[in-house]
Amino acid sequence: MDRIRIVGGNQLQGVIPISGAKNAALPLMIASLLTDDTLTLENVPHLADVEQLIRILGNHGADISVNGRRERQGESYARTIHFTSRNIVSTTAPYELVSKMRASFWVIGPLLAREGKARVSLPGGCAIGTRPVDLFIEGLAALGANIEIDGGYVNATAPEGGLTGGRYVFPKVSVGATHVLMMAATLANGTTVIGNAAREPEVADLAKCLNAMGAKIDGAGTGTITIEGVRSLSGARHRVLPDRIETGTYAMAVAMTGGDVILEDTEASLLDTALEAIRRTGAEISETNSGIRVVRNGAGIRPVDIVTDPFPGFPTDLQAQFMGLMTRSSGVSHITETIFENRFMHVQELARLGAKISLSGQTAKIEGVSRLKGAPVMATDLRASVSLVIAALAAEGETMVSRVYHLDRGFERLEEKLTRCGAHVERVSD
Ligand code: UD1
Repeated sequence: MDRIRIVGGNQLQGVIPISGAKNAALPLMIASLLTDDTLTLENVPHLADVEQLIRILGNHGADISVNGRRERQGESYARTIHFTSRNIVSTTAPYELVSKMRASFWVIGPLLAREGKARVSLPGGCAIGTRPVDLFIEGLAALGANIEIDGGYVNATAPEGGLTGGRYVFPKVSVGATHVLMMAATLANGTTVIGNAAREPEVADLAKCLNAMGAKIDGAGTGTITIEGVRSLSGARHRVLPDRIETGTYAMAVAMTGGDVILEDTEASLLDTALEAIRRTGAEISETNSGIRVVRNGAGIRPVDIVTDPFPGFPTDLQAQFMGLMTRSSGVSHITETIFENRFMHVQELARLGAKISLSGQTAKIEGVSRLKGAPVMATDLRASVSLVIAALAAEGETMVSRVYHLDRGFERLEEKLTRCGAHVERVSD
């Protein structure tokens, strides 16, 4: 199993190309099941989660061809992928496939809308909380679906004549359930209104693609989304938006090590709250023509408190990385996690590097230390694993990160991107 070896201490200098967003690519790929025409997605990152979803879509009958062209020789490895689901050959998403990645549960929306039925295993994914599916079930029921849970599977059927438009106000913001309800409603009879919808940029990106396919969606990116159902959707060509989590992660890496890096092909407006928090730690952040420049010279890292929240708040997917940064701050900071109840697994691993962190309920108190020291650590989930990389970049000596498959789910060519900026990071295959 691969490990990543990091020798800390180097500043980061140079350019890091930002990939297409994993969390946009996955729902966009799933949306291809809504049409018998070809959906072409550009700027799809090369990640284990994308490969897994390709297998899942193939199981439903999608014909998928990957154009491996490098968009910029040696730097960006974005791919253009064509998805054609002429016929849906199976409306069952089995446990063996769905258990590996929670987002694959989302096929329930398109399968139900297009075929009138879906049998989808209850999901797996990162072990960062109980992550139930009640909101998906209530939302789809509001469109007239009949849903039963049996033997670890969710069995959903649409009434004769298909789903019908409805009104559903989420009691809690859910990105995935918003994606699914929006996709299902595109082919429902009549108009659907989704209240307390997730406002994440990936929801707006999915709506933009669905509208290019012929859907009639208004308000995506706000708390209220209105969808007027259409009879069918066509193919389209869509470019996946930049990965705001990858952007924030590298911005924090520079804030941690010091240096001067341009994050290319990304947009500051996708992560204003996180960038503001990074600025307050003492890094300078400015917008360039094609991205963001992050600079930190000499000065120490100031402690900053954050609370995670749905967009436009501070993203839970950057919480672990920010904690990594705070381990070296010049004082005491507090990080409160409000989205997932078990998202502090990185705390004990960061402690192995010398971090001083104590937990009280959903809040972590981080007492900054003047030095971290390299140690063997273990990646526990996708975002937690990269917080260890951030800490290791500023630790003295060598850190070995094991269980790197967590990183490979969501960070494209991490070691290459960091090495090009002067970091000492290498993949070790046993
Ligand atoms: C998505 C992101 C993930 C991010 C999360 C929150 C993708 C592929 N994943 O995950 O990286 O951390 O948004 O920004 O885009 N919940 C329920 N019942 C449900 C559904 C969710 O109680 O039926 C709860 C969850 O347990 C969690 C909260 O709602 O506490 C938010 O989860 P949700 O927004 O659904 O996360 P995902 O869509 O799974």
